[in-house]
Amino acid sequence: MPNAVVMTGYGPPEVLKWAAVPLPEPGPGQIRIKVEAAGISPTDLALRAGYLKAFPLPPDAVLGFEAAGTVDAAGPGVTGTSAGDPVTALLLSLGGYAEYAVASIWTGKPKSVSWLDAAALPSSAEAAARVLRQLNVKPGETLLLFGGGGSVGVIATQLAVARRIKVISAVGEHDEALARELGATPVRYGPGVAGRVRALGAVDAVFDAAGTGVLADAVALAGGPGRVITLSDPAAADFGVTLSEAAPDRAPRALEETMALLADGKLRLRAHTTMPMQQAPEAHRQLESGIVHQRIILTLP
Ligand SMILES: NC(=O)c1ccc[n+]([C@@H]2O[C@H](COP(=O)([O-])OP(=O)(O)OC[C@H]3O[C@@H](n4cnc5c(N)ncnc54)[C@H](OP(=O)(O)O)[C@@H]3O)[C@@H](O)[C@H]2O)c1
Repeated sequence: MPNAVVMTGYGPPEVLKWAAVPLPEPGPGQIRIKVEAAGISPTDLALRAGYLKAFPLPPDAVLGFEAAGTVDAAGPGVTGTSAGDPVTALLLSLGGYAEYAVASIWTGKPKSVSWLDAAALPSSAEAAARVLRQLNVKPGETLLLFGGGGSVGVIATQLAVARRIKVISAVGEHDEALARELGATPVRYGPGVAGRVRALGAVDAVFDAAGTGVLADAVALAGGPGRVITLSDPAAADFGVTLSEAAPDRAPRALEETMALLADGKLRLRAHTTMPMQQAPEAHRQLESGIVHQRIILTLP
């Protein structure tokens, strides 16, 4: 039997165990991937800790919203992909921290893109493209982005700038230069951020890719909740703000389009480092403690 990082319960990183699991079978329209690399997202940490129990997990769940590897088997009805093809996948039902993962949404990986970049792309790219689409920001409009230095924010900045949207990016001091390099106007996040944004002019829409705690400022700056979207703030409904969740058709072709940009050297990703997949508990510990200011991508030999 292959191995995976199994979640043996909700709790600290130690609930993650490298264990034998049944080989997953691809259903209709699905492929099975022999995984080379899998991204860790902040949502994985929140799920493991039990902060998102509204999103129930089965016993022995395997975390991971994204994984890159080679196609190992294809289910009924799959066309255009066959065994051995390099791909990266968005795993809406999780399962990335594993030697084999089953996917319904994937795109091909060009040779020029590394396994690590391929594994870091799907979840953040889908979220960035989806929220920009939902906000319907037009060329010439001003978008305020909270979390512009994060995995989603870095991609959202570049997609928006390419559409001639003016981006004001609320970031920490360490990400100001990055935001500027990507074409945004940085403002320092934290107390007083609303005043710093107002000093730059009016805001048409707000994308909260920061996590939590920015919605009061977001709604005030946008003049109401109508064009404010958050990816993860559980207080969204209290502010009348849309909480955007992934769905198969909310960002059509997001993976294809961002993978093409990556292959052409036209898309930068948030910096990432690697750890062997078996060390997923240690990776979660390091991310939670904040001692790494990078993403961690889990790798298999
Ligand atoms: N709903 C979905 O489908 C979906 C998909 C992907 C991600 N998410 C969620 O979206 C959020 C962002 O994901 P991610 O992968 O981009 O996370 P990430 O890489 O950790 O980025 C989060 C960024 O927010 C910044 N930040 C923290 N507090 C802030 C504040 N008050 N104002 C502005 N920025 C602030 C952080 O800066 P520092 O480094 O300075 O702390 C960091 O750069 C996470 O909560 C994640 O769980 C949801």
